Amino acid sequence: MTGCFIVLEGGDGSGKSTQARLLVDALRAAGHIVTETFEPGATSTGAKIRSLLLDDDAPLDARAELLMMAADRAQHVHEVIRPALAAGSFVVSDRFEPSSLAYQGIGRGLGADVVAGLSGFARDGLEPDLVVVLDVADSVAQQRRPIATDRMERAGNEFHSAVRAAYRSLAMEHGWALVDGEGPPDVVADRVWSVVAPCVEVVSR
Ligand code: TYD
Repeated sequence: MTGCFIVLEGGDGSGKSTQARLLVDALRAAGHIVTETFEPGATSTGAKIRSLLLDDDAPLDARAELLMMAADRAQHVHEVIRPALAAGSFVVSDRFEPSSLAYQGIGRGLGADVVAGLSGFARDGLEPDLVVVLDVADSVAQQRRPIATDRMERAGNEFHSAVRAAYRSLAMEHGWALVDGEGPPDVVADRVWSVVAPCVEVVSR
C-alpha cells in the first residue's frame, strides 16, 4: 500500500502553515500515519538551499531562484516524500510545485510552462493526490504577513497580489481545491477537512 500525498498551498499570510499543522493533527486523530514536511528546506541539503534562497541578501536572479527551488524539491522527493509514501505513510507538505508555478512562474514572470517543465524533472514524475489552496483577500494576507524579513516577504504587496491571483487561476486550470482561508483557524480547518476527507477515503480503500 502506498500513502496519500496532500499539498497545502497559498500565498504568504494565507494561514497555510497553521492549516497544515491542524490537518496533520486531524489525520493522526483519524488513525493515519502522517509525515509532515515542507518546502523549501526539509532536508539537510535543502536547509542550506533555503538559507541562500530566503535569508541571504545577495542578489538572486529569478532563474537562479527557480533552479534552487527545483534542487530543493528534487532532494525532498528523493529523501523524504517517496520513501514515506512507499512505507504507507500519508504525506502532508506545506508547499510543493504549485508554489514554483505561482511565485516563480507568474510572480517573477518566468512563465508557468517553463516552470512546470523544470519542476516536473525535479519531482521525478511524482504527483500529489490532492492540492489544497488557501485563499484570502490581499488585505487580510497583508495584515497576517510578518514585517518583511525574508527575500519573498520583501518582494512587496504588488508581487503578493499577483501570486494570489496566480493561485486562483492555476487552481481552476489544474483542478486544485480552492478553500476560503478567512475566519477562525478551526472554521478554516473544517473547510480543509471537507475536501481532504473524501480523497483520504478513496486512497485508503
Ligand atoms: P516560508 O518561511 O516557508 O513561508 P510560508 O510560511 O509562507 O510558506 O517561506 C517560503 C517562501 O518561499 C514563501 O515566500 C514562498 C516561497 N517559495 C517560492 O517562491 N517557490 C517555491 O517553489 C517554494 C516551495 C516556496
